[in-house]
Amino acid sequence: MSLPSAKILAIESSCDETAAAVIQDGRFLLSSVVASQMEIHARFGGVFPEVASRQHVLSIAPVINQALGDAGIQLADVDAIAVTQGPGLAGSLVVGLNAAKGLALGANKPLIGVNHLEGHIYSSWLSESGKDQAPEPPQFPLMALLVSGGHTELNLMTDHLTYQRLGATLDDAAGEAFDKTARLLGLPYPGGPSIQLAAEGGDPTAFQFPIARTEHPWDFSFSGIKTAVLREVRRMEAENRAVPVADMAASFQFTVVQTLLVKTLQAAREFNAKEILIAGGVSANKALRNAFLSQSEFKVNIPKFVYCTDNAAMIAAAGFFKFARGDRSGMDMDVIPTWPLL
Ligand code: KG4
Ligand code: ZN
Repeated sequence: MSLPSAKILAIESSCDETAAAVIQDGRFLLSSVVASQMEIHARFGGVFPEVASRQHVLSIAPVINQALGDAGIQLADVDAIAVTQGPGLAGSLVVGLNAAKGLALGANKPLIGVNHLEGHIYSSWLSESGKDQAPEPPQFPLMALLVSGGHTELNLMTDHLTYQRLGATLDDAAGEAFDKTARLLGLPYPGGPSIQLAAEGGDPTAFQFPIARTEHPWDFSFSGIKTAVLREVRRMEAENRAVPVADMAASFQFTVVQTLLVKTLQAAREFNAKEILIAGGVSANKALRNAFLSQSEFKVNIPKFVYCTDNAAMIAAAGFFKFARGDRSGMDMDVIPTWPLL
């Protein structure tokens, strides 16, 4: 694929972050704005869909204006508009999609629908122009582990935008397991960062939680470990003992990290991958990042911390490669709330 020089404006509104970004040539950040609704949803202990879509309605225009302003450009200067088409909450996705359609129509720019998961994959190669050294472009084939709130997938990436799905979770996603386990332990939403914080003072070997075996080698299952935590909590409560939250959080986190690491390394060997990639909200987890970075068998692509969770820069990055390939979406593009990468 020959790559043009292009500025992409992207919009992301799949869940509880309203985001817009401008990226040059698929990796160089000109701006990235994220308006988080986390504090609003924390009151409900999780994302409240109707509240989320109404917050997107309030934030979308100012966020887009700020992204263009921070990049020092006008809408007329962008080459295309990329937008998250799915997966995500339908009512949230619609807000970003319609904003993107309006801009594309008004400014006569190409419109490109992007899969949110594909965006996460491209978050690894983002570079803050002038502030850091741009990460090396990927070498294929590459073993990509996607770990977000709604998805856990192992995909072999054989070229840009080209994947072979090897396995996925049979039940809870890794992020979902963090969120549900945090709730069991009485830790605040969002669960991932809460577990990470609680685990800092805990012993990861205090509890031996089970590593699930799956029939297919590249699938995952996280509902068993969540149930094991629940059983321990209930047992201690029945015995009137204080729940050792830090030890439990650390042991849970250790087991999840080991499961993800071991399987990804095995798959990378099996499929002769040149590199590994981890992406999605859970890739923000310090223990997970350290575990992958402490092995020396494979080069690991990990997004910078700020680009692990939802943002529009990653949507612009994936959108750029789709733009280069000639993908264009019509004005009749609809949201796709359930949309696996493959
Ligand atoms: O990718 P993301 O921002 O949204 C989705 O596309 O789902 O991922 C959100 C998920 C949540 O489940 C959250 O608990 C988890 O990522 N997460 C973490 C950490 N930060 C966010 N999980 C573990 N450790 C973290 N530090
Ligand atoms: Zn995400």
